[in-house]
Amino acid sequence: MEAVKRKWTALAQKAKGMASFLRGSRELVAVDPGSYAVKCCYFKEEGGILAVKAWGYLPYDLKPEASPEERKAEAIKSLKAFLAQKGLKIVEAATSLSGNSVIVRYVKFPQMTKAELSAMIATEAEPFIPFDINEVQLGFHVLGEVSEEGQKKMETVLVAAKKDLVSQRLEILQGAGLAPTIIDVDSFALENVDELVRDPKQAEGATLYLNIGHMVTNLSIVDAGVTRVVRDIFVSGITLTKAVMKALAVDFAKAEELKHQYGILVDPSEKEGILQAGQKDALLVSQTVAGVIKDLVGEVHRSVDFYLSQGPERSIGRIVLSGGSARLKNIDQHLAAELKVPVSLLNPFAFLKQPPADLPAELLPSFGVAVGLALRRNNDWV
Ligand SMILES: Nc1ncnc2c1ncn2[C@@H]1O[C@H](COP(=O)(O)OP(=O)(O)OP(=O)(O)O)[C@@H](O)[C@H]1O
Ligand SMILES: [Mg+2]
Repeated sequence: MEAVKRKWTALAQKAKGMASFLRGSRELVAVDPGSYAVKCCYFKEEGGILAVKAWGYLPYDLKPEASPEERKAEAIKSLKAFLAQKGLKIVEAATSLSGNSVIVRYVKFPQMTKAELSAMIATEAEPFIPFDINEVQLGFHVLGEVSEEGQKKMETVLVAAKKDLVSQRLEILQGAGLAPTIIDVDSFALENVDELVRDPKQAEGATLYLNIGHMVTNLSIVDAGVTRVVRDIFVSGITLTKAVMKALAVDFAKAEELKHQYGILVDPSEKEGILQAGQKDALLVSQTVAGVIKDLVGEVHRSVDFYLSQGPERSIGRIVLSGGSARLKNIDQHLAAELKVPVSLLNPFAFLKQPPADLPAELLPSFGVAVGLALRRNNDWV
């Protein structure tokens, strides 16, 4: 569990001026307000057993060109309806961020106390942050001590999030009557889950997580519980849909439908059958989708090469997929063949004695971030 605790990043206590982070009441609802759907999860411990008391998958009922304001209003509306429908009176909430308004950096600082670093963080962090320091909310966590050129240094993970993104998230939660007490980073929340669900006897090597959402794909590489690479890639669900729109000259809704229906054809006999049946659309969607995934694979290669170049005896042992786009038909087989590493889909509820029976299997990978957030205060329960 220590590895899990080492990784948390605290932005929310700044937003709320709270000193406690992993303490306090355990009544906490996790809200992952993505750009396609809001995902919610609420765990409760009863008789020593952790169980999912409520989950929500709330896709936006909006036109693709809806403004951020409309999206926010819709998220608040569906979140409120979810809380009312489930009869949840919990006020505290955890949420997380990702995308091009969030930067995660690993930085080594000279030895100082946490209080000293806290006081100096804006000045110390400025060179590492590509945004105006006055426009960001900073969070940091000291990972441990390292030696560099004979000097002891503190390895620190820095998170800088643009204030407007933080405010937008806080407004969604507050608008639904919730009090945000934790703001995390999508990739960190996700790793929190995999720590619990992965097979302890799994093959050697680091784990590469790909959370393929709608607007963004979160990539992280974790070795022995330590995150080594975190980055966001802008090849994701919407990129696939737009490519299908263009290739088949259809509107957004139709392109989404075709993408969901066909995915990637990997099996030669399946391809043959499709050809025989004259299903041109299926072939075209598959080719188009595979073309976009090629770009994603290129980005993954870049991150893997960077990781491998950072030290000897490094390898990637497995890839864990999550996010709504992990539901793309055959994406796991396709990526395994392209990247030559075993690929699995995340079931974020696999550690529970009783997984939620009413949650459809195809939605499981979409709940990675929400479950990771919901566990933030529940680490000691498992
Ligand atoms: N069966 C399916 N096949 C292919 N893609 C799918 C399928 N089901 C959902 N998706 C895609 O998953 C994406 C939504 O994923 P997710 O819910 O993880 O996004 P999000 O968290 O709301 O977005 P983001 O985090 O990027 O802002 C959409 O692009 C959607 O089209
Ligand atoms: Mg998401």
